[in-house]
Amino acid sequence: MSIIDSNASLKAILSDVAQVAGYIWSKGWGERNGGNITVNVTETLAPIASQLRPIPNTTTSIGLVLPYIAGKYFYVKGTQKRMRDLAKDPMANGAIIRILEDGKNYDIIADTAILPTSELPSHLAIQNYLVQSGSRYKATLHTHPIEIVALSHHRQFLDDQTRPNHITSVLWSMIPETLAFAPLGLGVVPYQVPGSIALANATLEKIHDYDVVLWEKHGVFAVGQDIMDAFDQVDVLNKAARIYLDARSLGSEPEGMSGAQMKEVQHVFSLPASRPC
Ligand code: 13P
Ligand code: ZN
Repeated sequence: MSIIDSNASLKAILSDVAQVAGYIWSKGWGERNGGNITVNVTETLAPIASQLRPIPNTTTSIGLVLPYIAGKYFYVKGTQKRMRDLAKDPMANGAIIRILEDGKNYDIIADTAILPTSELPSHLAIQNYLVQSGSRYKATLHTHPIEIVALSHHRQFLDDQTRPNHITSVLWSMIPETLAFAPLGLGVVPYQVPGSIALANATLEKIHDYDVVLWEKHGVFAVGQDIMDAFDQVDVLNKAARIYLDARSLGSEPEGMSGAQMKEVQHVFSLPASRPC
């Protein structure tokens, strides 16, 4: 019997993963194997942790030292696995891994030896930061949302010197909900090789301050209390990018909400200046 069959809360998490993978596929953000999902399932597995055994010969280096997630368990999408297949069966297209006590290696625990996503360094570096900061956030998501990636091909949207940066100001000004539900905005990580440690480190640096991080000419990386929450963050920002592009296609620069209108939203919604724990 698989560990999943005996654990109702893990089943619920995997059901959410499947649902989000389906949304990603429907939105056209998950071509082929595009995108990946990681969820910290340590609490969920705690009652049966003593019965869990690593699959022999699956010990693998993460490429980073991540002491805060030592001994923790994660559901991870498999590398080269498709979101549309995850939507049907997350465990057949992913695995549960356990980080070893050295914080440098992991073992695959269940169900079969499916190799984790190539973006594991980014996912685990951010999961390590979330645990270190005492956060309730358990899910990390990388995906390829079309409209946000399209904006990242224009230099003016890549400037990250000001706070808010230009891309965040433009997205916030499209509809009030963008500012209300993504009050920390979209950080920008300059292009890095997919799956690289450099990409993980650059993402880690930005995720402290932003709801979602843009990977230039590639995709986004988001964190959430659960995987639905992480998906919503990307969906809210990408909706604004789509409105911007649709409005821009009429031939001139869209007006956007005024500074006063945005301040009013900030005031009415009492928006946080940093991520709540
Ligand atoms: P994986 O199939 O390894 O998860 O990679 C997909 C991806 O989007 C890489 O950036
Ligand atoms: Zn990608």
